[in-house]
Amino acid sequence: MKQGLVLDKVVLLGRTLEEYRRYFALDLEKLRGKVVLDVAAGVSSFCAEANRLGLNVTASDSIYNLPGDEIRRRCEPDLEQVTQVIGNLKTYRWVFYRSPELLRRFRERAYRAFLDDYRSGQGTRYVWGRLPKLPFRDNQFDLALVSYLLFVYEDRFDYEFHKRSLLEIMRVTRVEARLYPIVTFEARRCAYLDRLKEDPDMRHFTFEEVPTDFEFLVNSNYYLRMTMTVRRDEGTAV
Ligand SMILES: C[S@@+](CC[C@H](N)C(=O)[O-])C[C@H]1O[C@@H](n2cnc3c(N)ncnc32)[C@H](O)[C@@H]1O
Repeated sequence: MKQGLVLDKVVLLGRTLEEYRRYFALDLEKLRGKVVLDVAAGVSSFCAEANRLGLNVTASDSIYNLPGDEIRRRCEPDLEQVTQVIGNLKTYRWVFYRSPELLRRFRERAYRAFLDDYRSGQGTRYVWGRLPKLPFRDNQFDLALVSYLLFVYEDRFDYEFHKRSLLEIMRVTRVEARLYPIVTFEARRCAYLDRLKEDPDMRHFTFEEVPTDFEFLVNSNYYLRMTMTVRRDEGTAV
């Protein structure tokens, strides 16, 4: 029987820049002058907050063809549904968020900041795209981030979807991609990881599971760092 969060779809929940900074172990100063892509960014406020700090971040998601009011209409019930059940699950540690109520405040802060920014940024910093394809040029970005879509939804997206999505993300990324979390909602390391590492089609990439000090979903204190084994050029790591 499942112990973790059971979802019948990919939910529209967004995280803040502070959360991205922690679980991707980002050094924001080192991102200055870099071109960053947030893939499946949804209602996260990372793009809005980062651009306000003077960073160059583009967000992409399959909902960015929708008006802001429609996105709000969809994300508010998703947040309600998740906050009602999450406090009773054994698959979460509450060191950072303390309580479902404080977690809800983070998520509300994220989607409100996102919606404010989306009004002026739809079509420019918020670009529609549906994995496993992305509407960007080869090597367009220095860093791509993927938070809470790949690996965690292992039971909704099959191995081929993961592989094609990673190949596409690495096509548009000049230096590296970071993906988080690499466990499923059952707090178990995603089964696709070892298969991806062994897959001949992935032979040009290096996979590193990098430990961090951030853990909400149990065992999620790692992100996956993907780089080209042979660099396409002299891009410096971020
Ligand atoms: C759980 S949210 C994560 C949002 C954000 N990355 C974060 O961590 O705050 C998952 C997002 O993936 C988007 N999504 C689902 N399937 C997608 C696909 N095939 N391509 C791009 N985005 C997708 C959803 O619209 C949703 O915004």
